Amino acid sequence: MNFYIGMDLGTSGVKGVLFDKEGNIIRDVLKEYDIISLKDGYAEEDPNIWLNKAIDALKELTDVDFKNDIKGLGFSGQMHGLVLLDKDDNVLRNSIIWCDNRTDKEAKEITETIGYDKLLKITGNIAMPAFTLAKLLWVKNNEPNIYKKIAKAMLPKDYICYMLTNKFYGEYSDTSGMQIMDVNTLEYSKELLDKFDININIFPKLIKSTDIRGKLKEEYQKELGLYNCNIVGGGGDQAVGAIGSGVVKATDASIVLGSSGVIFSPLNELLILNGEVQTFLTCDYKKYHVMGVTNGCGTSLKWLRDNLFGLDYNTMSNMAEKINVGSNNLYYLPYLMGERTPILDNDARGIFFGIKNTTSKSEMIRAVMEGVGYSIKDVFELIPKDKDRIFISGGGAQSELYRKIIASMINRKVLRIDCKESPSLGAAILAMVGNNEYKSIEEACLKIIKIYDETAPIDDWVNYYNKGYKIYKEIYNNTKNTFKKMKEI
Ligand code: XUL
Repeated sequence: MNFYIGMDLGTSGVKGVLFDKEGNIIRDVLKEYDIISLKDGYAEEDPNIWLNKAIDALKELTDVDFKNDIKGLGFSGQMHGLVLLDKDDNVLRNSIIWCDNRTDKEAKEITETIGYDKLLKITGNIAMPAFTLAKLLWVKNNEPNIYKKIAKAMLPKDYICYMLTNKFYGEYSDTSGMQIMDVNTLEYSKELLDKFDININIFPKLIKSTDIRGKLKEEYQKELGLYNCNIVGGGGDQAVGAIGSGVVKATDASIVLGSSGVIFSPLNELLILNGEVQTFLTCDYKKYHVMGVTNGCGTSLKWLRDNLFGLDYNTMSNMAEKINVGSNNLYYLPYLMGERTPILDNDARGIFFGIKNTTSKSEMIRAVMEGVGYSIKDVFELIPKDKDRIFISGGGAQSELYRKIIASMINRKVLRIDCKESPSLGAAILAMVGNNEYKSIEEACLKIIKIYDETAPIDDWVNYYNKGYKIYKEIYNNTKNTFKKMKEI
């Protein structure tokens, strides 16, 4: 039997899973790290820490007596982060990661320089502070001494793959989130890069997600005892996670309740919407998907757990279950780190609205789940409506209550698959396809991914949330200017 590794280079850790070729989990390892936040709104991570943790994870995963049967390794990576290397491949600064929001000015600069419509046409998206181009321009504008030393610029998982293989590649899915690629031609847009005087040669050569980057460098082959393992292109975590959840057809959609909450749907052809939702490439060559992101999804419950309650998630979910729909009229807006879809507002912040002298912890927990639910509904309203199957995954989906809330928010049944490690499974599937274990990503998904359960909407809740949604929107509309004023004091 052949075996494959899927690694997910996430925001809070690197998760590695060893699968057999049928997608059964043999072992899994998580190595955690922290976001470095030097100022309000800043979010950075150290690429060297990622690398060390990834190698530690690989060591533990491959401590088996069938190393020669481990044939492939695929990476899923947190998207949009910027890794910069000098001419000797030294990391020039911490990576500015996806949820950093220091780049409002640069996002404006991008729109003004390229033009709103043209940018949308070339890159599939409007200028986003989260995307890599804005981060690169921030370094150019604020750290000229670092900028002039840049010899290579790349995304997080491409850095790890480069260090592991010595082959400098990127792939289409993740690169479409950099805002430097022409999504029509699948090439870096020279026209766009020239406008900012950015050297096109600092970026890696692009390959497909299932193409083989190469084998491990000799030193890692020896250290890990992995001599037969091909490292494939891999992909951005959303595109890869979708594969690991079986979401490969235009009639499928997925909701991922991770650190951020993501609504994702493959497309039959390139469709550029009005910029509220993003259009990126999937891991299937020349295929596209739409996606919307609510930034403060898992982060909201984590904040409540770590900073206020000190309880575990299971206990919190059980407490919230005892509370009626609507949390006794307590509302929560999950904008702890600003918000992306649909409001695109870096200045927005979290709100509990309607606190009373009797408000309990349990009500606050349910209100957080419902607030995230409203923000998911907010995004879901924007994607094409022709969906037969809606999958739900991510840490939050382990709570039945959370699943019921989300199903009722969107008034659709949500399906769960029998593997909780979607990004790692998706990454391993890319390695399996790259190694000709399966003919296509779709074929692999059909054979490997099984539906585990489904959660139906609850009629009373659907009615309640349709009304509550209007209040949720009103709270933001009435406070958005106040957030801006707060910033000015
Ligand atoms: C996607 C996005 C996040 C990150 C972190 O656009 O920003 O999903 O990839 O996981």
